[in-house]
Amino acid sequence: EMLEKGGYDHFMLKEIYEQPRSIRDCLRGRIYPQQGKVQLGGIKEYIEKLKNVDRIIIVACGTSWHAGLVGEYLIEEYARVPVEVEYASEFRYRNPIITEKDLVIAISQSGETADTMAAIELAKEKGATIFGICNVVGASIPRTTHAGVYTHAGPEIGVASTKAFTAQVTVLTLIAFYIAQKRGAITQSKLIEYLTELDEIPALVERALKSNDHVKEIAAKFKDSNNCLFLGRGSSFPVALEGALKLKEISYIHAEGYPAAEMKHGPIALIDDAMPVVFIATKHSSYEKVISNIQEVKARGGHVIAIVTEGDTEVRDMADYVIEIPQTGEAFVPLLATIPLQLLAYHIAVMRGCNVDQPRNLAKSVTVE
Ligand code: G6P
Repeated sequence: EMLEKGGYDHFMLKEIYEQPRSIRDCLRGRIYPQQGKVQLGGIKEYIEKLKNVDRIIIVACGTSWHAGLVGEYLIEEYARVPVEVEYASEFRYRNPIITEKDLVIAISQSGETADTMAAIELAKEKGATIFGICNVVGASIPRTTHAGVYTHAGPEIGVASTKAFTAQVTVLTLIAFYIAQKRGAITQSKLIEYLTELDEIPALVERALKSNDHVKEIAAKFKDSNNCLFLGRGSSFPVALEGALKLKEISYIHAEGYPAAEMKHGPIALIDDAMPVVFIATKHSSYEKVISNIQEVKARGGHVIAIVTEGDTEVRDMADYVIEIPQTGEAFVPLLATIPLQLLAYHIAVMRGCNVDQPRNLAKSVTVE
């Protein structure tokens, strides 16, 4: 087993460190930055469908559902198609309105999740077109869907999903640009610019991983917390949800993710000096607004850990701790901001003596309801 872990203490840490490679594998043969071209062989027979689709419904569970939420931001922003993201377990039982005009995208690392499978069967009966975004090649879900895109992240052993999540987000980014291109929602020069940035992401993830020792020091300060709040806006909101899920899954600390502005409608009541609050505060469209949210937390005695863009000084002056990630375009922030949150959860869990790779009561794949 030591050999399988490639010298890392846990599969989870190995898989976190594999992300520069897994994202690179996911992009391979699919982007041509100089030509401004995205190629997705698995769904190319559905180009007409994508040109005309009125609505996309994403169904998934757990971490895959969080990837779906990132996908919603990206597809709506770049392809301008309305997207709904549904928990498969809710969708399947609420007599959802689905027509032959809909495109359903099912996201599943294992390709075996029972609720996601049932949601697909239902949508199929109603005549929708179904795409899958799966990691395990040849699993039940990719065999049931009409078409799909594999994430190519390689086997994920740690129960808490890490590299599969970033690969799912990568595929959704590709799908957003692919649809945008087919529908003429994006100019060729913009696409060249975005794909050039996307091509650099594996190298930037590598750089983001360099924060590991610093994150470990921060983890040591907060390892005894009972609660933790994760806040972000825009596509960093689902990243906050995912950061909270990672922490609660493997360290058993109660953690919640929220859209930063929603803090005022509840979580703010919990803030005191025993409450660490993790912000995703990169220099993008909602930067100033997130800064006001940080000030609100500081004014109430909360401890702020902020994920910031390299070189940021404004947040550094107000937060207790900052973790830098490389500068990138807004579309790609989820791929970088996720990295330190995975490391934070990992180190806190290890320091608490938890079984990181096999947390209590959780299964890698939930094949029963
Ligand atoms: C379980 C796993 C999670 C995963 C979820 C959905 O809860 O522990 O890591 O996100 O199932 O699994 P799927 O294989 O469908 O992505």
